Amino acid sequence: MSILVTGGAGFIGSNFVLDWFAQSQETVINLDNLTYAGNLANLSGLKDNPGHVFIRGDIGDVALIASLLEKYRPRAILNFAAESHVDRSIHGPEDFIQTNIVGTFHLLEATRAYWSALTEVEKAAFRFLHVSTDEVYGSLEKDAPAFNEEHRYEPNSPYSASKAASDHLVRAYHHTYGLPVLTTNCSNNYGPYHFPEKLIPLIIHNALSGRALPIYGDGQQIRDWLYVKDHCSAIRRVLEDGRLGETYNVGGWNEKANLEVVHTLCDILDELQPRSDGQLYKTQITYVKDRPGHDRRYAIDASKLERELGWKPAETFETGIRKTVQWYLDHHDWVASVTSGNYRNWVEQQYT
Ligand code: NAD
Ligand code: DAU
Repeated sequence: MSILVTGGAGFIGSNFVLDWFAQSQETVINLDNLTYAGNLANLSGLKDNPGHVFIRGDIGDVALIASLLEKYRPRAILNFAAESHVDRSIHGPEDFIQTNIVGTFHLLEATRAYWSALTEVEKAAFRFLHVSTDEVYGSLEKDAPAFNEEHRYEPNSPYSASKAASDHLVRAYHHTYGLPVLTTNCSNNYGPYHFPEKLIPLIIHNALSGRALPIYGDGQQIRDWLYVKDHCSAIRRVLEDGRLGETYNVGGWNEKANLEVVHTLCDILDELQPRSDGQLYKTQITYVKDRPGHDRRYAIDASKLERELGWKPAETFETGIRKTVQWYLDHHDWVASVTSGNYRNWVEQQYT
């Protein structure tokens, strides 16, 4: 038995693969084309595990996918692969269209061909799980109820529009061809191996290296934070027992304004690794130009997942954020390796 994971060298994908092997011996075929966001160092703990088969390749390469499906005959495909950073999608949307829409389409086509040729028993057991985002629902007013699965799609950035398009394709493959799909729409993740272009790891890294802590606009935009390992456990639950064709929202009921998150990070760092000059890290906070089209608020109503599948997050924001800061303090080498090369070019383009 095996599963095929795409994007398994990225932030959430690598956490998922590591967690998978902490509870299962089932083989994982890990397909990732190693963009700037893919990092095999995340998976170094699996180098002696023959159950982890890494393949460098693109989800849009139908011939490659077909050969992998033929060779390994997985019982499920979990699609994490994507271009994931909103700011990059604003600077250059093309890669987002290619991977998130065209790539997902090709992956679905290869999957459909494989699935159609399975026996009836194998067909019934097969799953295609698509990992998506709360950003497809757009931006919430201050007092509006959190997004549930019935909320209309209203994506506002090239990133969220491309994810919304991929969600629609996945849905259509179920409706039209009967492909046994599941979709998860999750809120903002944080935790180990988070690439330091995203708010939380960027703030930790910049704080420790004496750089400015950039706050877009007034810093009052709200995100709903979930520790990455809780996202991974939700995906495993949906894979096990999710109802075919259904969407499950995943979130931790942790709405926080960006400025509050940054202050929390500064306070934890002041406690765990105070600045040598005695100053507080929050003196490094700098307000910068806002993100164009910046969504004001996201909030996820995860009650369907809790009610139907009994899932609950294990971490509160307070426990998860402390673990995360400690992880970055303990993994200077990882941070140093990802903050070289391509990442530096990106930081210059974005912040200078
Ligand atoms: P990430 O950018 O850290 O990782 C993406 C991975 O996909 C990388 O390893 C990259 O090399 C790989 N990849 C990109 N294009 C590919 C292609 N064409 N073929 C094969 N591999 C390719 O992203 P992440 O934060 O880990 O997000 C994973 C998934 O979860 C994405 O689909 C994203 O939309 C979704 N998601 C992310 C969050 C979040 O807070 N990070 C929240 C909800 C949903
Ligand atoms: O909601 C789920 C989404 O969360 C995922 O689908 C995306 O893949 C993931 O990148 C994330 O998107 P966000 O845009 O919310 O995350 P990011 O970390 O880029 O930004 C979080 C908030 O912090 C957002 O309001 C923008 C703000 N921000 C971000 C950066 C990088 C800043 O104020 N300063 C910054 O330097």
